[in-house]
Amino acid sequence: MNPTYDFTGQVAFVTGAGSGMGLAAARAFSASGAAVALADVGEDAVNAAAEQLAGEGRHVLALVCDVSDEAQVAAAVDRTVAAFGRLDMAYNNAGVMPPPTDAADEGADQFDRVQAVNLRGIWASMKHELRHMRDQGSGAIVNCSSLGGLVGNPGRAAYHASKHGVIGLTRSAALEYGSRGVRINAVCPGTIGTPMVDAMVEGGELDRGQAESGQAIDRLGTADEIAQAVLWLCSDGAGYVTGIALPVDGGYTAQ
Ligand SMILES: NC(=O)c1ccc[n+]([C@@H]2O[C@H](COP(=O)([O-])OP(=O)(O)OC[C@H]3O[C@@H](n4cnc5c(N)ncnc54)[C@H](O)[C@@H]3O)[C@@H](O)[C@H]2O)c1
Repeated sequence: MNPTYDFTGQVAFVTGAGSGMGLAAARAFSASGAAVALADVGEDAVNAAAEQLAGEGRHVLALVCDVSDEAQVAAAVDRTVAAFGRLDMAYNNAGVMPPPTDAADEGADQFDRVQAVNLRGIWASMKHELRHMRDQGSGAIVNCSSLGGLVGNPGRAAYHASKHGVIGLTRSAALEYGSRGVRINAVCPGTIGTPMVDAMVEGGELDRGQAESGQAIDRLGTADEIAQAVLWLCSDGAGYVTGIALPVDGGYTAQ
């Protein structure tokens, strides 16, 4: 990737930063000059990611944080501000994909867990980021929805409900904060080649060839392509953009 943004002096907070799109966004933010807090429930992965970036001379902080626990999220955001002095950008990306389930058979525990990470996790992250951005009078937040926030898919009711919910959170908060200097948007990735999708292919839940040919651009997306959209939404180039749910999906939702 050839970064074209200059975020020198700015601070970014990224959840789910130990893998996939969160890791790609953390790399891209730091390559563009930002100090970056990497938060993830996976301690080894987030520490390894931060160590690698620090070895490349980047300003980074690793935070072990389960986004389904509001107290952990509040502590992680506060530690970011304590370490770097401010908070300018956030990519609320941590999420889980449960196995496909007939809607008539889905267990309440699975439904609740998916909402706790994918929806309440974004609610908590945005809430505690906004407390700092509200005081600053500036900031840009990108919430990770999905093509699953825009359309349905058989067997995926709980996941798609969580991702539709992310768009509702995003739009309402964007309206609330537009006049207060904070822009809030969602990104809706299509099928992206990350460890999450690799696990779906390995588990027989997804046929990679079918997934590729189901896009107008007949390949899977890359984590870097999502990171580029996230950075654009956080940049001054998107200064008049708020409350949108941006599909980055190879044309999937154009059908
Ligand atoms: N890969 C895709 O095709 C795709 C498409 C649309 C949306 N998404 C969404 O993009 C986001 C990132 O997905 P990915 O494909 O990079 O997945 P991934 O599995 O590679 O990475 C997800 C990261 O989130 C972390 N995480 C999971 N639960 C967490 C929790 N409770 N607290 C903190 N961190 C947690 C994991 O440890 C992991 O590091 C998710 O929200 C996912 O739903 C993915």
